[in-house]
Amino acid sequence: MVQAAKPLDFLWFIPSSGDGAYLGSDELSRPPDPGYFREIATAADRLGYSGVLIPVGAACEESFVLAANLAAFTEKLKFLVAIRPGTATPAYYARLASTLDRVSNGRLLLNIVVGGSAQELGGDGIFLPHDERYDHAAEFFKVFNELIETGKSNLDGKYIKALNARLQLPPVQQPRPPIYFGGSSEAAIDFSAGLIDKYLTWGEPPAQVAEKIAAVRKAADAHGSQVSFGIRLHFIVRETDEEAWRDADRLISKLSDETIATAQDNFRRNSDSVGQARMVALHNGRRDKLEVSPNLWAGVGLVRTGAGTALVGSPATVARRLREYQELGIDTVIASGYPHLEEAYRVAELLFPALGIEPQPSPLRASFGERQVFGGGGHGGNVRSSV
Ligand SMILES: Cc1cc2nc3c(=O)[nH]c(=O)nc-3n(C[C@H](O)[C@H](O)[C@H](O)COP(=O)(O)O)c2cc1C
Repeated sequence: MVQAAKPLDFLWFIPSSGDGAYLGSDELSRPPDPGYFREIATAADRLGYSGVLIPVGAACEESFVLAANLAAFTEKLKFLVAIRPGTATPAYYARLASTLDRVSNGRLLLNIVVGGSAQELGGDGIFLPHDERYDHAAEFFKVFNELIETGKSNLDGKYIKALNARLQLPPVQQPRPPIYFGGSSEAAIDFSAGLIDKYLTWGEPPAQVAEKIAAVRKAADAHGSQVSFGIRLHFIVRETDEEAWRDADRLISKLSDETIATAQDNFRRNSDSVGQARMVALHNGRRDKLEVSPNLWAGVGLVRTGAGTALVGSPATVARRLREYQELGIDTVIASGYPHLEEAYRVAELLFPALGIEPQPSPLRASFGERQVFGGGGHGGNVRSSV
């Protein structure tokens, strides 16, 4: 069993654009469905995940509305909700964020998503070139943070005009909900310095993650600020390594070469994200070299934008790999797996014990003291014995 001094903080993911058992296939796919998202969120809450990431994008359900809904059905779960500067004003986002923190009793985490597709951003009315998006975001978060921390802001900026803006109702968390951020370009890292609490990287091999951590730390140090680190990964954890690799192959078993070529062409044409380019460079659309680092499999990235790698293996193997990231400074994992409901159970039941993550204590007694072994006994019940 691999145990670290402090267990990793584990969040799960709400697949708010849909889910499925096979990548790049309609077979056993699940369309976006509010009832299904509630099942995933309540499972994550019970299983001991500290939160869930809710993405933002034209193909996704709106993240604040979805989080507000899921907060009503969960108790402890936090919501890492994406803000995309420019899709609304900072004053409006400050009200959204404050109200969500209030109705969830302090369970909001913010994820700054500046965006990496000119085409998609254009649909939202944002027409800035890559690096300038971060200049715009810096003005946006100046106003947003002032409002959320003090209730007042005033800026006549190059991109943002907020004249005597006010927020009357403060968030529960003081001075504000924690801010997470992912972006791999130099402009992104410069922007993040002094602003964010946690930097998120997609699941690149450890050496590349180490480079990014060093660059983000250097930028933060220059501002005299502290930053911590998280990683976004898929997981295929099974009782044995062989089973896990078999299921990784199964996940892409209905994926045609034509679908891969179309997806890769779309990434090339529609994305100017440095982070996305780093993900694509791991496999370059080739399905024959997908283990890009021990137990790190790039199969998901053949067709999915963003998080494109999975840790594959038995609980002991995957725990060992996570320990390598932890030694680099990673303290948080944002995890997912296909399909997200079943895999939330697999990761919690198989991997959490190997990582020293305690399950949620249950107030219910399991029995009157007799040992019970699940056995599908009389009427499907447990087998009781006094040993
Ligand atoms: C953990 C994580 C989550 C992200 N979530 C989203 C998202 O929900 N929607 C989106 O459009 N981009 C998302 N991104 C992409 C980045 O926010 C950013 O827009 C992109 O990487 C472009 O920046 P870059 O060129 O500086 O890398 C995410 C990135 C990371 C690392």
